[in-house]
Amino acid sequence: MKIFLIAGARPNFMKIAPIARAFDKHSKEISYKIIHTGQHYDPNMSDIFFQELNIRQPDYHLGAGGGTHAQQTAKIMTGFEEICQTDRPDLVMVVGDVNSTLACSIVAKKMQIKVAHVEAGLRSFDLSMPEEINRMVTDAISDIFFITEEQGMTNLLKEGKSKKQLHFVGHVMIDNLFFQLKKLEQMDTTIFPTNSFKQKHSKYGVVTLHRPSNVDNKPTLESIFSTLSTISESLPLIFPIHPRTRKNMKEFNIEPSKNIKLIEPLSYMEFLNLWKDAALALTDSGGLQEETTALGIPCLTIRENTERSIAIT
Ligand code: UD1
Repeated sequence: MKIFLIAGARPNFMKIAPIARAFDKHSKEISYKIIHTGQHYDPNMSDIFFQELNIRQPDYHLGAGGGTHAQQTAKIMTGFEEICQTDRPDLVMVVGDVNSTLACSIVAKKMQIKVAHVEAGLRSFDLSMPEEINRMVTDAISDIFFITEEQGMTNLLKEGKSKKQLHFVGHVMIDNLFFQLKKLEQMDTTIFPTNSFKQKHSKYGVVTLHRPSNVDNKPTLESIFSTLSTISESLPLIFPIHPRTRKNMKEFNIEPSKNIKLIEPLSYMEFLNLWKDAALALTDSGGLQEETTALGIPCLTIRENTERSIAIT
């Protein structure tokens, strides 16, 4: 069977790594190609993850880049359709809920190629969130559903999916977390520049923020920074900052207070080394909610809702 494995944005890379490892173990039955849509393109948002997570170089790179949602989605769809026309797979496997997930599943389905969705069935029921739209559309047309938590099963059954299509398999991202954690234990972590911050502060918090609902609006972002500033008086904070958030802080003239250390986005291993020993994670990320839950690190989710109910229960 020939499978196309799709990845485009940072949160996809840690999900495809363990899938590719599993495919490699079944190379007689499965041949696969990795398609990088290019949704994320900065080396520290993409290349470094391929290196550290030992993902082989993509077989195709669509170079989609940024732009509005429609521009980005359209570029991915056009590029991906061309590839499927000349090198048709039996199955397209998409992960998560980013624009690349949506774009490639629509193209595949319209070409009558089967679609498998990994991390299917999650719902925030908040349609102001672009990822919720991506999740709903992808699940509406997928053929095979790989589900990370029980709520995902419940949601998909309610939406009329047949039990035969649903596979409650746990979370590849958490498999990857434990795999990398073992590797981290063997590494010399003093090579990480953030090690000095860890040495200096026996207790600290880690922040990440990038949701449009938190960072695209000036009063909201100002108010979040004001709260972070208060927290940082008793708990120093370190904040690897997403390109979207950095751009908006500049535009809105927001300066962090002195106990909030802003740094560039980190590689998987350096970030893991930082948050696994944090007293608290403050985040609007989907993945980090689940990863901190898996390691028992308290996580304060800066959102009005979450599609990942397992992080609460
Ligand atoms: C995307 C995903 C989101 C995921 C997040 C993780 C969608 C709808 N959103 O949001 O679910 O949690 O990735 O990071 O797919 N940019 C760069 N360099 C990069 C990547 C982005 O400068 O490598 C800039 C873009 O040009 C754009 C902004 O950051 O201005 C946003 O990028 P985009 O891919 O549109 O969405 P994210 O906010 O990253």
